[in-house]
Amino acid sequence: MSTEPGYAAPTVTVATSLPKRAQSSVLIVPVVTGLGGEAGDGSPTVVGGPFLDAEAIGEIGVVLRALGAKGGAEQVTRLHVPSLAVGSVLAVGLGAPRDEWPADVIRRAAGVAARSLSGVDTVITTLTELDLEAAIEGLILGSYRFTEFRSAKEAALSKIIALSTAAGAKKDAARATAIATAVATARDFVNTPPSHLFPGEFAKRAEALGETAGLKVEVLDEKALAKAGYGGIIGVGKGSSRPPRLVRLAYRGAKGKGGKTVALVGKGVTFDTGGISIKPAASMHHMTSDMGGAAAVIATVVLAAKQGLPIDVIATVPMAENMPSSTAQRPGDVLTQYGGVTVEVLNTDAEGRLILADAIVRACEDQPDYLIETSTLTGAQTVALGGRTPGVMGSEDFRDRVARISQAEGENAWPMPLPDELKDDLKSTVADLANVSSQRFAGMLVAGVYLREFVADGVQWAHIDIAGPAYNTSGPWGYTPKGGTGVPTRTMFAVLEDIAANG
Ligand code: BES
Ligand code: MN
Ligand code: ZN
Repeated sequence: MSTEPGYAAPTVTVATSLPKRAQSSVLIVPVVTGLGGEAGDGSPTVVGGPFLDAEAIGEIGVVLRALGAKGGAEQVTRLHVPSLAVGSVLAVGLGAPRDEWPADVIRRAAGVAARSLSGVDTVITTLTELDLEAAIEGLILGSYRFTEFRSAKEAALSKIIALSTAAGAKKDAARATAIATAVATARDFVNTPPSHLFPGEFAKRAEALGETAGLKVEVLDEKALAKAGYGGIIGVGKGSSRPPRLVRLAYRGAKGKGGKTVALVGKGVTFDTGGISIKPAASMHHMTSDMGGAAAVIATVVLAAKQGLPIDVIATVPMAENMPSSTAQRPGDVLTQYGGVTVEVLNTDAEGRLILADAIVRACEDQPDYLIETSTLTGAQTVALGGRTPGVMGSEDFRDRVARISQAEGENAWPMPLPDELKDDLKSTVADLANVSSQRFAGMLVAGVYLREFVADGVQWAHIDIAGPAYNTSGPWGYTPKGGTGVPTRTMFAVLEDIAANG
């Protein structure tokens, strides 16, 4: 974030040859599993390209063989190479040799390399020969740290030198840096604890980011929300002493030249206790991530503006804190969503869909061609797909397009259905809808079916459930640290680029 003390992305420069004197830096080179040359012992082969001479490649090979390194995917080996003017070399394995490298193989290898180098100031890499953008994204995302609340700050990676002779390398490096920085912005929001990030503060930070990027920003406070009839946002937010907000960030890149309009909506529950239907204590602290969708949406619209995409992108971000108190909504309360649909709140812990329904109706007033909504919506997403695979629902064609693009980006969203019969489970005895189903099956899809009720006819839409993928509660892997992941920022930006290019 530019306006807050937080993560500062390393600077990236492109060089066409190895720097002559780089004794304080680490050179990251890819290696593949090989036959071991004359030795024939299966030891790894350096992918050296034009930047390393035969002597250096030979030396690295000898040391790796002596150490028993095999070049397996994501294996790292740090070594000293006397003939090179760098402090040390980090060999990172890519597995078996290939002619084409999937971007995420390079991104993950770069991420693992960056994570293994804590305390290093400058890295130089030839991974960029295989995929410049993926290598840079992986290095930035892997070196990400959230140190705002640590007394002793470890030194962060400050400089990346990307070796490449490709035409357009500078432009590609800048684009990759912008994308990775947007992901870091989303991660910073998720990692900022609920003590410090509550709706008012979240809105302020989103507004500052938006204004810096030249967006049109509108913030509705609790009075404006009540007056305009945002019953879902008010209902969820009224148990907290820290009132809700609705933030709108508009980027107008189409400039009347026929570019599409895309609405983005993201769940911004800054903390989800469950409300009166309170959650068990054991993992409640994970609910600091319940604004992960909002974080990704804000980062994405800002990125779209910085990259100057020729489309309109309008983010609608509801923010609330779901707390139990004497002012909280009760199970059995009825509220009126923005637009007039009445809802019986049978479970105050199914709060995401209540604030999202209001936001979706508002977003559709802009008559978008497409609507992408993302949220940490259901524990059922994690049951069905686990911690790394978002579920995507919505209009069939657009759903499949979003899933395909997400897989190409390495965020790996998977298409899921919205069976019509599930709507029967959302019948209420007193209101138009109930906010939960009477049975416990297909919880992710039921939430999607609820949201579908609020999407205007003719809008191509996708709902991405990131309950697990937004927040890594197990160990770090690839370029993903513990805590906020920034998913699905890269998916959404890639979809926006695809819409900009193909309509
Ligand atoms: N924020 C949670 C969903 C969640 C669970 C996110 C685990 C991340 C990790 C959401 O508000 C919620 O509580 N959903 C309920 C819905 C249920 C009451 C129908 C759930 O999944 O249990
Ligand atoms: Mn909840
Ligand atoms: Zn929630």
